[in-house]
Amino acid sequence: MSAAYKIIDHTYDAVVVGAGGSGLRATMGCAEAGLKTACITKVFPTRSHTVAAQGGIAASLGNNSPDHWTWHMFDTVKGSDWLGDQDAIEYMVREAPAAVIELEHAGVPFSRNDNGTIYQRPFGGHMQNMGEGPPVQRTCAAADRTGHAMLHALYQQSLKYDADFYIEYFALDLIMENGACRGVIALCMEDGSIHRFRSHSVVLATGGGGRVYQSATSAHTCTGDGNGMALRAGIALQDMEFVQFHPTGIYGAGVLITEGARGEGGYLTNSEGERFMERYAPSAKDLASRDVVARSMAMEMREGRGVGKDGEYIYLHLDHIDPKVLAERLPGITETGKIFAGVDLTRQPLPVTPTVHYNMGGIPTNYHGEVVQNRDGNPDSIVPGLFAVGEAACVSVHGANRLGSNSLIDLVVFGRATGLRLKETLKPGTPHNPLPKGSEDYALGRLDHFRNAKGGTPTAKIRAEMQRTMQRHCAVFRDSALLAEGATKMDSIYQGFQDVGVTDRSLIWNTDLVETMELDNLIGQAVVTIKGAENRKESRGAHMHETYPDRDDANWMKHTVATFDGWGGKGGAVKIDYRPVHDYTLTDEIEYIKPKKRVY
Ligand code: FUM
Repeated sequence: MSAAYKIIDHTYDAVVVGAGGSGLRATMGCAEAGLKTACITKVFPTRSHTVAAQGGIAASLGNNSPDHWTWHMFDTVKGSDWLGDQDAIEYMVREAPAAVIELEHAGVPFSRNDNGTIYQRPFGGHMQNMGEGPPVQRTCAAADRTGHAMLHALYQQSLKYDADFYIEYFALDLIMENGACRGVIALCMEDGSIHRFRSHSVVLATGGGGRVYQSATSAHTCTGDGNGMALRAGIALQDMEFVQFHPTGIYGAGVLITEGARGEGGYLTNSEGERFMERYAPSAKDLASRDVVARSMAMEMREGRGVGKDGEYIYLHLDHIDPKVLAERLPGITETGKIFAGVDLTRQPLPVTPTVHYNMGGIPTNYHGEVVQNRDGNPDSIVPGLFAVGEAACVSVHGANRLGSNSLIDLVVFGRATGLRLKETLKPGTPHNPLPKGSEDYALGRLDHFRNAKGGTPTAKIRAEMQRTMQRHCAVFRDSALLAEGATKMDSIYQGFQDVGVTDRSLIWNTDLVETMELDNLIGQAVVTIKGAENRKESRGAHMHETYPDRDDANWMKHTVATFDGWGGKGGAVKIDYRPVHDYTLTDEIEYIKPKKRVY
């Protein structure tokens, strides 16, 4: 097999796959620690999906209102509907202020208050006084282009520390040996060469798989490739049934309109012109957490109070806000509204609808970024050599529902933590053992299979069926019958994928082939998502299961972990197991936050 492909070998201390916010922060940290570091990315770093993050990054700096890390911790635990691991949450919120200041020093051009401090805006579910309110201004913003600003600063810093970048390389598979990760195989999409990276550590920073769904704020590149690779390596993904719908995707286009819009005073109305959030979340209203707002909007539409011919959207109003404020703080979405909806936000409301935005689930890790699995009765058993960060990972700080602006802070805090862990545990230049014979066979066998696939069904057709099925059967509201039917359909879509046909057999910019391998990654995630949802018989956070409408802490306060026996004609069976939620904090400076009813 390998004889048919040109293989180029590389040896590194650390290889990071993905160059979004978490990947770049991990790359920067590893390189700064003197480790020989490579970053492999399928798109140019500053085009990674973090570029689309708008509203900001959460940290209890207290610049615009009083704040404290314990308040941030309370809100995050409550937002997670008590599925988040409280040791990891404590780590994140305590590290957050320093991580933001570090970004400021790295060159992120944050918006400013008159006194020169970083401007912070309100975001959903972030409150003062251990959830009592009023809303806190915790989200540090660079207008509404925060992710864009971060990517540029972090890429520059990574280059400063001499990390090597392999740009427009598509990672194919992990090299595993006796349960440890030894490296990764990648395809250079420009010239078709195969690259074998031998490395003491591989950090998966490949983002989420939003494109499992039909309508997502995620870019078309968000195919969760690291999660696909992990599943093929027999690694269980955690809590994949928890999929976040952002309340304000532009109707029809799916493009994100930041929650910062509501943070700056925007509000939602139904077809009767009513500010309906007052009924669902009397205290936080439009600034309740995302799952609550998305569900309320879906309920309004379901009960016939949606706007539009078929009542299929809701209005977001910003037309009462001073145009100068819009121009200064929300210039990006003002432009987006015009381009994608033909709406002048200074005068007209914008049609919006809940749109897939984020995977709370992913590759389970501890707060050092080390991948953990259930092994020999130990739920926190480390997979040697393998790390995961960012949306690809499930630390789990977001549990069943992530708060807006906690994603960017997760990226930098855990990207940084991974660099620190590697600095602590790996001496630069540590000698490598030889790789096992045929270490490339698995990845190349799969590549070759799809490259020569002569089936009768085009990739795009199978992808569209998967996306429609997930959108219809595993969205904001779920019930037993809908999920069971969807799970059966996903099984047959997976079987139908065995008949995929690829028409381009070349290796130079073969987008037909790359999209097919991306689809292979997506399908595994779709199947574990819907089967995890079908299996979880309660409602919690983003998982609203109408057959089981209540949270059931006695039976379900636990993480789902699921493997997928896919690729290679193995039948696509899903095996579900559980990991305990960490019901302890990191230090004695805060006590475990006990579960209670979640109202906003
Ligand atoms: O609404 C937003 O600006 C998105 C932020 C986030 O997902 O954290």
